[in-house]
Amino acid sequence: MNDLMFARSLFGTTMGFHIIFASLGVGIPLMILLAELIYQKTKDPHYSIMAKRWTKAQAVLLGVAIPTGTIAGTQLALLWPGFMEVIGKVMSLPFQIEIYAFFVEALFMSIYVYAADRLTPLMRIIAVVSIVIGAASSAILITNVHAFQGTPEGFKIVNGEITDVQPWKAFFNKSFFITASHVVVSAFMTGAFIIATIAAYKMLRNRGDEKVYVLHRKALLLGLLVGGVFSLVTALSGHESAQFLHRYQPEKLAGAEGLFKTQSYAPLAIGGFPDEETQSIKGAIEIPWALSFLADNRFDTVVKGLNEFPRDEWPPLYIHTLFNGMVLIGGLLIVYAAAGFIWRKVLKKDRFPRWLLILFTTAGPLSLLAIEFGWVFACTGRQPWVIYHMQKTSEVVTASGSIGLLFVLFFIVYIILGAAVVFVLQYYFKRHPVEEDLKTSDA
Ligand code: HEM
Repeated sequence: MNDLMFARSLFGTTMGFHIIFASLGVGIPLMILLAELIYQKTKDPHYSIMAKRWTKAQAVLLGVAIPTGTIAGTQLALLWPGFMEVIGKVMSLPFQIEIYAFFVEALFMSIYVYAADRLTPLMRIIAVVSIVIGAASSAILITNVHAFQGTPEGFKIVNGEITDVQPWKAFFNKSFFITASHVVVSAFMTGAFIIATIAAYKMLRNRGDEKVYVLHRKALLLGLLVGGVFSLVTALSGHESAQFLHRYQPEKLAGAEGLFKTQSYAPLAIGGFPDEETQSIKGAIEIPWALSFLADNRFDTVVKGLNEFPRDEWPPLYIHTLFNGMVLIGGLLIVYAAAGFIWRKVLKKDRFPRWLLILFTTAGPLSLLAIEFGWVFACTGRQPWVIYHMQKTSEVVTASGSIGLLFVLFFIVYIILGAAVVFVLQYYFKRHPVEEDLKTSDA
């Protein structure tokens, strides 16, 4: 591997690890807010217990999200100095504003964690709303740099010099709103499904304690309901993102769909593997005309194929599989949510069968996997560009060397950190079982 590959592997691993905590840091506060709101409305203590316990978990996750985010920021500067020169001059606004968003989130998080019992109901809700707004704003601001990389605006590079800088134009680049919405709603969806996973797991492990079962069943249903709603919204915003690719990054859409030849009435390829030699996708199910329609709402829309672009500017062909994986998981989780809802609310069954609970335990990990697929697809699908059609990744990588060793060391650090998070969460919740909360709240 050369320095470029090591630098991409190192940064990709850091982001892949950080994104787990960053996404949950956006999704779980929404679940805390909903539990708090239901508690204030119904005075059902189960929801107050949920809000408190999820807040404890959120505090641990935030404790990892902050240092890994800092590592990512440092690596940006060290690994990609040429890119950071552009970001520093053109796109520093999101980073500057993000400091305030983070301040709001951290401040209200501390208040809610340490003083929730002493706050009035209204203040409790204001505190959690502020956490949700702070966390979502942080995510929107930072991912706006990614949006800018795909649809750069507000500057020119003339003879290697950055000129005509318009920071607000760069900030409100064409992809700003669509990227922000896809990222935030997919994080809400993931936070909800992680809650559903844990609740389903606890129901599977329950040994006849009815009160505990009922509490977890409520958490499961809330998770499936919120996850289901946001899966639908994620699919809609994903469709919008794909239409944006058609207009502004057509080679990424061609890669995602394994489309080699430019054509109208283009088919949508599900599954299979793009084969450059035969210029086709092997083993795919093709839906005639569907890609043209999805790209621009008309069957005769002309969709550009990969052959339209120089070979060395094609994205890697495996992004087709990542794209399929993301969309497939999104669809599957809508089915999960519908199944849970029908079982409990339509068929009015008190207990969930084991097989269904086992299925539900996979919801959270699958959603996280879709987030990973989404990011790898979006970022490798932009290659070879770090800033679309303006700056190549190979031009901005550091020349310092010895990145291979750093990659191995950070990889080990993330494994240890990941294991430590699981250990701390397990230790805390084992020492403070839900039965204890049920006793003290007289539920
Ligand atoms: C269900 C149908 C879905 C469609 C059609 C879809 C479509 C897309 C598209 C086209 C992109 C690339 C955007 C770009 O490069 O500018 C993308 C990126 C992404 N997707 Fe999806 N997606 C779907 C589901 C999901 C699900 C279920 C998740 C996670 C739970 C998810 C998470 C992401 C993330 C994190 C990114 C990277 C950020 C971004 O570029 O927007 N997506 N998606």
